[in-house]
Amino acid sequence: MTPFDAIGSYLDQMDVSAWRYFPVVGSTNDMALNWAKQGAPDWALVVADAQTAGRGRAGRHWVTEPGCALAFSLVFRLSPDEIANYARLAALGGLGLINALEGLGLKASLKWPNDVLLSGAKVGGVLVESSWLADQLEAVVIGLGVNVSFGSVPPTEKLRYPAIDIQSALERPVDRWLLLAQIVHGLRNYRNILAEDAFVVACNQYLSWRDEWVRFQMPGEQPQRVRIMGITSDGRLSVETQSGSKFEVLTGEIIMRND
Ligand code: BTN
Repeated sequence: MTPFDAIGSYLDQMDVSAWRYFPVVGSTNDMALNWAKQGAPDWALVVADAQTAGRGRAGRHWVTEPGCALAFSLVFRLSPDEIANYARLAALGGLGLINALEGLGLKASLKWPNDVLLSGAKVGGVLVESSWLADQLEAVVIGLGVNVSFGSVPPTEKLRYPAIDIQSALERPVDRWLLLAQIVHGLRNYRNILAEDAFVVACNQYLSWRDEWVRFQMPGEQPQRVRIMGITSDGRLSVETQSGSKFEVLTGEIIMRND
């Protein structure tokens, strides 16, 4: 079965309004943003087998080799309630993936702000981007990159962090397109409660290193040790420093190096 046919066979579970599949694209987020400009409806899906210019957070390169990963983007036309909870969208992407992994029997966690970890290694990342018309938010695109089989994990020397793929964690093959359908299904479920307290509860339930001490770096600052306290209702990370002061951060990175 071709990827196109396989994705088509799982449409019921995803309930997408429209979809496009490409063997190779630059970035599915770009395709989705362009499609949104041309009128793509809410919950339209762009999937690619491979990306040549995939990108991650902070302008980093995201590699998607053919046949071994998931790279896809969903178009959101946000309701006013959802706009008010815009800061939760990166976590929404992560929770959708975590939900699908749970269905496979894998316990994953949410590394603030936009990564999903399995056994302490990165298995997927989320990139939220927006399309504006003057000062009006036209559409939001949530892109997910997921390491499905071994070939999706770049060589260790090229990585800034430990990484893992789902098949290696499970020690058995995974149907990539069924997994896509399950992630999209999970995203839909969590989208339904995006504005509710239950969403924040879920973020905290799955949060990596909750109540643990980690190395944390804010932009332009030296790394420091902080204790992770939780995710706030507006998507910030709440931390405590070694001197006992507590604060909430909007940007920054938990350092998880290979070395
Ligand atoms: C990160 O870890 O920094 C986020 C990675 C997000 C990668 C996905 S792959 C599909 C979509 N298209 C892109 O160009 N990026 C996202």
